[in-house]
Amino acid sequence: MEREVITLLSLREIDKMRQAGHLAAKLLHHLSSLVQPGVSTLKLNDEAEQWTQAHGAKSAPLGYKGYPKSICTSVNEVVCHGIPNAKQILKDGDIINIDVTVILDGYHGDTSRMFFVGEPSPIARKLVEVTDECRRRGIAAVKPGAKIGDIGAAIQEYAEAHGFSVVQDFVGHGISKVFHTAPQIPHYGKAGTGRRLRPGMVFTIEPMINEGTWEVKVLADKWTAVTLDRKLSAQCEHTLAVTETGVEILTPYPGEDIS
Ligand code: MF3
Ligand code: CO
Ligand code: CO
Repeated sequence: MEREVITLLSLREIDKMRQAGHLAAKLLHHLSSLVQPGVSTLKLNDEAEQWTQAHGAKSAPLGYKGYPKSICTSVNEVVCHGIPNAKQILKDGDIINIDVTVILDGYHGDTSRMFFVGEPSPIARKLVEVTDECRRRGIAAVKPGAKIGDIGAAIQEYAEAHGFSVVQDFVGHGISKVFHTAPQIPHYGKAGTGRRLRPGMVFTIEPMINEGTWEVKVLADKWTAVTLDRKLSAQCEHTLAVTETGVEILTPYPGEDIS
């Protein structure tokens, strides 16, 4: 297989990515207060679009490969790329992933997390907690000299140990001025395999963890990916930089220090 070029970012460019990433994280935090029973996913979208513009940035998803909205809102069995819709009203017990990507001064910040609408079922809570721990473990595998396969192995091992499965059809990705570029970051795989991580690499880790089968299906709208068995799916995402000593989370959740 051809060796793809993985661009290493300069410290100046990583600072641009940090500005964009922190803005994306702030947007996600801003939206969190709106997630309540009775709110439509379109309302979340419109608030995100307005907030992003007011902060001098652009919504990367809008118009990307024909995507029609500014954010992705993936509820319950939706794995990713759920399209906000006025008719989709959040209800008590739903779980929702909100995925935002902003472009600030040409650079992308891409992040997502899960929210509970009211009270989740025990299995929904467990799935979200396991997915969140997969995020931590995946990030903990990132350091110079480690390999891309170490990330997926850490995530897959933890998810499967809890009886869940890892989506294979969507992967993390290099990101900078370009939304999706090399390298691909699978959330499954074998430790010690794949390309070596080097300082200056910037990519996302965005595991999608399913309650049942790992298999997904894309609906007729060409975007919405759902679990094949229609059981629950959860996801969280950060944009990260490999540093000289380890990793920097470029999209830190406000008020949370895990980097
Ligand atoms: N934010 C998504 C990601 O994590 C991509 C969304 S692309 C869109 O890579 F077109 F669906 F918005
Ligand atoms: Co992404
Ligand atoms: Co994203």
